[in-house]
Amino acid sequence: MSDQNPTAPRPASSSSTVAGEGVIPEFAPAPEGQHRRYAVAGTGHRAGMYVDAILGEHADVATLVALLDTNPGRMAHYEAVASEALGHAADLPQYAPDGLEKMIAEQSVDVVVVTAPDHAHAELVARVLAAGADVVVEKPLTIDRPGCRRITGAVAETGRDVVMTFNYRYAPRNSSLRQVIASGEIGQVTSVHFEWVLDTVHGADYFRRWHRDKKNSGGLLVHKSSHHFDLVNWWLGDVPSRVYARGGLKFYGDRNAADRGLGARPARGTGVVGDPFTLDLTNDPRLKSLYLDAEEHDGYLRDQDVFGPGITIEDNLSLLVDYRRGATLTYSLNAHSPWEGYRVSVNGTAGRAELEVVERGAIALDDEGNALLDPSATPTSLGDALRPEGERLLVQKHWERAAEYPIPDGIGGHGGGDAILLKDVFRRHLRVSEDALGRPAGYLDGLRAVSVGIAANQSLVTGLPVMIADLDLGASLEADL
Ligand SMILES: NC(=O)c1ccc[n+]([C@@H]2O[C@H](COP(=O)([O-])OP(=O)(O)OC[C@H]3O[C@@H](n4cnc5c(N)ncnc54)[C@H](O)[C@@H]3O)[C@@H](O)[C@H]2O)c1
Repeated sequence: MSDQNPTAPRPASSSSTVAGEGVIPEFAPAPEGQHRRYAVAGTGHRAGMYVDAILGEHADVATLVALLDTNPGRMAHYEAVASEALGHAADLPQYAPDGLEKMIAEQSVDVVVVTAPDHAHAELVARVLAAGADVVVEKPLTIDRPGCRRITGAVAETGRDVVMTFNYRYAPRNSSLRQVIASGEIGQVTSVHFEWVLDTVHGADYFRRWHRDKKNSGGLLVHKSSHHFDLVNWWLGDVPSRVYARGGLKFYGDRNAADRGLGARPARGTGVVGDPFTLDLTNDPRLKSLYLDAEEHDGYLRDQDVFGPGITIEDNLSLLVDYRRGATLTYSLNAHSPWEGYRVSVNGTAGRAELEVVERGAIALDDEGNALLDPSATPTSLGDALRPEGERLLVQKHWERAAEYPIPDGIGGHGGGDAILLKDVFRRHLRVSEDALGRPAGYLDGLRAVSVGIAANQSLVTGLPVMIADLDLGASLEADL
């Protein structure tokens, strides 16, 4: 299964291929006729992964019974997807957001998958729980303090289930680092240094549409970095306590463009040739169907200029985060890098672990100057020997040489995480044993992850460190540790 977003890098291949014990979970066979009834709320790009899973690999345990969105064009896209998979008209009932409770009642929905924009998560999650269904919600759990409090209140009142889909935990390389730390091999963790770089194709994509407005996404520290903060929380088995942040919009946006003398630019990428910062929706049938063909309903523009006005999120960010048990995290995110990937160094009392991942070594341009999203598919592939795509996990104990820790092969997108995550989402009642890596995540994990970004956003405004306890997010982050 691929990421489905053409701007995201293809998953890096493993440099070592030893089967990792416990990384790919085992499940019992599904009993006949026991289907949970799913609805999808927010039928854009990300919904595709869940719709495909319900109609395909997990069709023996799940049935898609309804769609909910503000845009009938995108629901029509998934009606067509479902009809093709089923081989007959799916006739999926379609609802607008104000019909959420009606949908749950009329279609006897057991679970709603929330893949709407980040700012809509809190309301949808709370209403689904109150209407008597469970939730599977994409990251980030929500974008701000009121959202956190609304969700924690709804969980407390209903006692219902909220599954957070932190797919990065399931990428075998990230699972392997968790194994290394949990094994005690590097001793007690004293500090983590974590650098994530997004390239000018994938990183730029957050500056083209709703994410570019902080009111919608909470900025990259919430929208994107909640993945990364969740990884650190989970790797360490700890919770963040204090956050200090610095950063700003230093590359994208109209002011930076003017300062660098970029001149007049087209307001959108569709129809533009030879500009590697643009995205032409007609080049990808899925993007065309989901966005260009659906514009008439709501005016949602998927391909706005990254150097246009109206961008209120940051593209360069640096954080210092204290953890409850004494470790410190230094973290940085850059969204205009020439390559994409990440580096994590974990210092412990007995040694050090280093994970290095190159997801896309460089962005190649075609003869006309357009960015090539999959250079390997063309003869112009850069074939970069200095920055080969791949991953490497080194563990070095005091007084010893560095050793390479084997990373098992993944299956599918996001470094192998998505397909394993989906098994856990749809079949977790059939797991033959508890996950030794503790990968399945709930709303508390979602809360811990966004707490860092929410505190960091406050720190960016005040210029001061922020105690997470002072945010009063509605639940104790230490609750089930
Ligand atoms: N885990 C991952 O790696 C990953 C990857 C991509 C996206 N996501 C998450 O998935 C979510 C959706 O992202 P996307 O890229 O698909 O966005 P998108 O804009 O493509 O799709 C969102 C859909 O929600 C609809 N919508 C808007 N307001 C709504 C409301 N109030 N109720 C219901 N639907 C509404 C929009 O019309 C659109 O169809 C985001 O929260 C994002 O963070 C996660």
